[in-house]
Amino acid sequence: MHTTNMFRLDGKIAIVTGGAGYYGKPVSLALAECGATVILASRDVAACEAYAADLRAQHLQAAGMQLDLGNEQSVKDFTAQVLNSYGRIDVLVNNAVSREGFKNLDDITKAEWEGAQQINATGMMLITQAVIKQMCMQQSGSIINIGSIQGTVGPNFKVYGNTGMTSPVNYTYDKWGMVGFTKWLANYYGQFNIRANCISPGGYGPGIAASIGENEFVTNYKRLTPLGRFATDDDIKGPVVFLASDAAAYVTGHNLLVDGGWTSW
Ligand SMILES: NC(=O)c1ccc[n+]([C@@H]2O[C@H](COP(=O)([O-])OP(=O)(O)OC[C@H]3O[C@@H](n4cnc5c(N)ncnc54)[C@H](O)[C@@H]3O)[C@@H](O)[C@H]2O)c1
Repeated sequence: MHTTNMFRLDGKIAIVTGGAGYYGKPVSLALAECGATVILASRDVAACEAYAADLRAQHLQAAGMQLDLGNEQSVKDFTAQVLNSYGRIDVLVNNAVSREGFKNLDDITKAEWEGAQQINATGMMLITQAVIKQMCMQQSGSIINIGSIQGTVGPNFKVYGNTGMTSPVNYTYDKWGMVGFTKWLANYYGQFNIRANCISPGGYGPGIAASIGENEFVTNYKRLTPLGRFATDDDIKGPVVFLASDAAAYVTGHNLLVDGGWTSW
């Protein structure tokens, strides 16, 4: 196959959970720009449909659909809706995240811990379970889990300085679990020609930097990142297309760090 064609996703049906969020938008845009039909899904169907309409206005193929990862019936209904509309699923990007109970261990309650787990662990498992059944029948598919640097190294609390910001205990727990879940999927479903990989990005600049400005955390974060900056939209686009496409046909069980070098030392 010609190398540039390996990266094409024409005819592929791709789901992006949380597809209208910070990282969800460039992930959805990248897949659509390479030819996939992208279904953006979250509880906020209006936001998903609005961004899908933006993509369609660029002559790309996209739709917004309702999905609540905290509700098992919603996961079943969503998957059925995708299959009724498109008949197949080629790519699942587990990108959605709940930020409930994003606190230090001292402060988090049992209810907050379990609330986040219901989305970030159980919900991710349920949507993967539903989609992978279809991928097994197709004998093909690519699962991409969006992790974080916090799922590869422990948090460096010094980066927050005196800002009062922190790295939540449940986030580290969930993102390390996501890497293990990815490897489990890769090792079990390889026999069905299904690949599973993780992308572990660093901090997203337009989200963080734009919302808090140039504070001590932002300065420290950039200083401790070898490339000296936060991630931009373009930084996530290439990695997600690579793992979704035939360019990565022999890549599975991998955790691709997209972090400007944060975890390299
Ligand atoms: N923003 C960053 O700096 C950063 C850094 C590293 C990794 N990440 C990872 O990137 C991914 C996206 O993060 P983001 O910053 O774009 O988040 P975001 O808050 O912008 O988007 C999260 C999305 O998840 C959806 N969601 C939440 N609960 C849901 C539910 N119950 N059912 C369905 N959808 C639900 C929301 O609607 C939203 O669209 C996450 O997995 C996050 O851990 C983000």
